[in-house]
Amino acid sequence: MGAQILDGKVMSAELRAEIAQRVAALKERGVTPGLAVILVGNDPASEIYVRNKGKGCEETGMYSRTINLPEQTSQAELESEIEKLNADPAIHGILVQLPMPKHLDEQAALAKILPEKDVDGFHLINAGHMMTGTEGVIACTPRGALYMIKSTGIDLNGKEAVVIGRSNIVGKPMAMLLLRENCTVTICHSRTKDLVEHTRRADILVAAVGKAGFVTADMVKPGAVVIDVGINRVDGKVCGDVDFEHVKEKASWITPVPGGVGKMTITMLLDNTVEAAERNLNRDR
Ligand code: GUN
Repeated sequence: MGAQILDGKVMSAELRAEIAQRVAALKERGVTPGLAVILVGNDPASEIYVRNKGKGCEETGMYSRTINLPEQTSQAELESEIEKLNADPAIHGILVQLPMPKHLDEQAALAKILPEKDVDGFHLINAGHMMTGTEGVIACTPRGALYMIKSTGIDLNGKEAVVIGRSNIVGKPMAMLLLRENCTVTICHSRTKDLVEHTRRADILVAAVGKAGFVTADMVKPGAVVIDVGINRVDGKVCGDVDFEHVKEKASWITPVPGGVGKMTITMLLDNTVEAAERNLNRDR
């Protein structure tokens, strides 16, 4: 028996229809939610992501602006762009596409974004909210992944969750969200010994490694929920971190790549942007 598919396209279509309604309601009150994306350099993968973010805004009726900065942009120039967007009332969400060229200080740039406009949830204030479980902006990829996990209807209390990957943008916040859902959480990474011993215990397995086909069927507990966050390119084809064809025979639920978590990431970004515009409007009243 094969796993059921967690379809990011279907879930996103439903969520984006709701988001579009909220956008329309805001427009009636004279506000068009606006997202600004800063892209430094010409990384082809980043260019595709940024284009998809713009398309998502268009689809839901939001305003979007992409600021393309040259590869050799200085830290001061980048931060000055961020400050202009902080002060711009047409912009409710600011996103600096990562990774940036090596000479730039990512953390310093992210710290310049006003926390209330930080729709990525990467500002230290929002990362702190995530850590303490208080209200703040939640990073888009883990938020989308959790939404997919919850859509299975499985009771998460006391479940073994294993996250492979410890990045600030996926692994760590993902683990924190699963902890908030009362899972027993293990974070595995490149120095983990006996990785398979951990993954085979997982009721919920999240792969955020960045290596095509890294998670094989022998690593998966029968009946597990498998969430594939990887976006890799092999011979021009997009594939995830999970050996989908074999793992789907063992899991109970699985996300495909493409059409899984990636689509949900952008949907959550749109949601975070509308929420920022709603918060801003309510603060002004
Ligand atoms: N690069 C890969 N994923 C992301 C993301 O969620 N946000 C930003 N800003 N950059 C990314």
